[in-house]
Amino acid sequence: MTSLAIPSTFDVAALRADFPILGREVNGHPLVYLDSANTSQKPRQVLDVMRTHHERHNGNVSRSVHTLGTEATLAYEGAREKVAAFINAPAASEVVFGKNSTEAINLLAYAFSNASATADSDPRFRLGPGDEVVISEMEHHSNIVPWQLLCERTGATLRWFRVTDDGRLDESELDDLVNERTKLVSIVHMSNILGTINDPARIVARAHEVGALVLLDGSQSVPHFPVDVQALGVDFIAFTGHKMLGPTGIGVLWGRAGLLDAMPPVLGGGSMIETVTMEKSTFAPAPARFEAGTPPIVEAVGLGAAIDYLNDIGMAAVQAHEHEITAYALEALATVPTLRIFGPTTPEGRGGTISFALEGIHPHDVGQVLDDEGVEVRVGHHCARPVCVRYGVPATTRASFYVYTTTEEVDALVRGLDRVRKVFG
Ligand SMILES: Cc1ncc(COP(=O)(O)O)c(C=O)c1O
Repeated sequence: MTSLAIPSTFDVAALRADFPILGREVNGHPLVYLDSANTSQKPRQVLDVMRTHHERHNGNVSRSVHTLGTEATLAYEGAREKVAAFINAPAASEVVFGKNSTEAINLLAYAFSNASATADSDPRFRLGPGDEVVISEMEHHSNIVPWQLLCERTGATLRWFRVTDDGRLDESELDDLVNERTKLVSIVHMSNILGTINDPARIVARAHEVGALVLLDGSQSVPHFPVDVQALGVDFIAFTGHKMLGPTGIGVLWGRAGLLDAMPPVLGGGSMIETVTMEKSTFAPAPARFEAGTPPIVEAVGLGAAIDYLNDIGMAAVQAHEHEITAYALEALATVPTLRIFGPTTPEGRGGTISFALEGIHPHDVGQVLDDEGVEVRVGHHCARPVCVRYGVPATTRASFYVYTTTEEVDALVRGLDRVRKVFG
């Protein structure tokens, strides 16, 4: 999945000039931004498109026949087309915009919930006692809590894949975990805490064999390497714009044709209906059915611009660059005494998100000293607390990379860690 064969083909120094924030200082030091798994920085091209949209084309979508409304609708629907092409979805109508990955996953969970409360709903979405939902121990809370809540509401049972000592998904119990009772399997594509990239092929095959649907949490994969939903064979994918050079406030749920239209609506309101009487309403087909109210218009347009930017670089080149940085960082971090990495320690089958601990030093202290040096990392449980529990630590320090990350920044991290050890060692 992570190919060593493709060389990094873009000029990182030139690309960095597109990101105004990378020119600033933090605590008297040049900013070293190593928190892109949390949120990415935004290039000028995205900021400009959003500003121009507000200055020139602002109107509400899908409601106005006037010129501005038409321009806004074209821009919004154009962004949908870009998203669909980016993940190789067969049709733009399979792309539902929402606020973020969390909302996308909750949308699906509530569609299951609503279907479960209705007798004539599509049985693929109907859950009750005896049915099962399967996740994994390496999920972000966004892909745990909605399913816990759904199971509480419906009486279904939540089960999960375990994680191996070296941070891989343990598929040894696949046939037991995914069985005739399973209605949905929801798995992360790349872990935001371990960096592990999961190949969902076996899980998809088994889930479809037993008639279950598969959601892939692509929050950390879609931004970082080519993702082709048709090749993956999944039924749904969720991802979030702010981690892929786009703005906050925009996320995507893609669903295979036919599935979205078989799902009951979740939020009711304007734009999602076919017709309304005082007694009853009927609903528009997807994606409008799931986009009640005025959507995040300029945010979608910004996401479209981010996709243009990533396409200009080429996702294979993005992947190759991050692979190089990750390999470099894994080697560099291995030289830091007492440092323990959580997750794969070689670059194969992992992405550019590395969690670690320094023996005897609390991650919050690590983060504080690094910030004093201008090095921005994330500390905590990274909204993946079960992983911390699995490895017996309260928290970790996490460095994460993107298109603009340089080896010099990795060196600054290692220097910062030496300082941490001097201060607390
Ligand atoms: C794997 C994964 N899933 C879901 C999310 C949730 O993303 P958002 O906060 O944009 O909804 C994140 C964010 O860190 C993530 O890394």
